[in-house]
Amino acid sequence: MGCVVILLGPPGAGKGTQASRLGKDLALAHISTGDLFRDNLARNTELGKRAKSFMDSGALVPDALVLDMLFDRVARPDCEKGYLLDGFPRTLPQAEAFEKALPRGTTVRALNLRVSDDVLLERLSGRRTCDACGNIQHMLFSRPKQAGVCDKCSGKLVQRADDSAEVVQKRLKVYREQTQPLEAFYAARKNLTHVDGSVGSDEVFAVLRKSVQGPVMEGCR
Ligand code: AP5
Ligand code: MG
Ligand code: ZN
Repeated sequence: MGCVVILLGPPGAGKGTQASRLGKDLALAHISTGDLFRDNLARNTELGKRAKSFMDSGALVPDALVLDMLFDRVARPDCEKGYLLDGFPRTLPQAEAFEKALPRGTTVRALNLRVSDDVLLERLSGRRTCDACGNIQHMLFSRPKQAGVCDKCSGKLVQRADDSAEVVQKRLKVYREQTQPLEAFYAARKNLTHVDGSVGSDEVFAVLRKSVQGPVMEGCR
């Protein structure tokens, strides 16, 4: 038994921001495939080299690479009771392969953050992330106390390479074509909840937290 919480939603919807908080709150490991790839890129690993051109252009990394990396990661002891997925699955073949691999009796809950395109663009253009601890901030909505410096660890805040206006448009298109169909996949299994992601971060968090409380989380205990 175990539980898996999946955060779905377009680029900039707040998956990373919320997953980081929710993971701590529920004591579940936060697994972001985007962060795992960026870590591989930074360390210049073979996997990082293979993923780079796809990420730079806003395309998805091929399913086989993603699935290998994901299955490796969730096999680690910190995922034994469950985990929270951010940015995975992203295609129907990923969702199907993942479902097949899950142990029987695992509770799955997909939470879909909905945000309009104009808000997404505003969030992505102002996003800054810490290159030391991964903390996510925003120039207007989560303003650093000191310009360019992470509030959490005093590391350097940087702009993500794929947050340029041109690449963002491609990422949104890829999301609509390849990832949005997952809403129907999880709705058909009756474990999808839509959440308004356009309101303030604390409000979104309160709603997410409520939707995973109770019987849904029984599998984690
Ligand atoms: P990934 O890193 O997953 O990027 P993404 O899905 O495009 O999503 P983002 O990280 O851009 O947005 P987010 O929803 O996490 O928003 P955040 O919390 O930062 O993937 C990157 C690339 O890796 C992909 O393009 C692909 O190439 C590859 N990849 C990864 N996974 C893959 C997979 N499974 N298959 C294939 N390829 C894969 O918030 C955004 C900003 O808004 C921040 O500045 C934040 O402070 C602010 N903010 C958040 N919430 C609020 C709020 N409520 N109000 C105001 N501001 C807010
Ligand atoms: Mg993210
Ligand atoms: Zn930091």
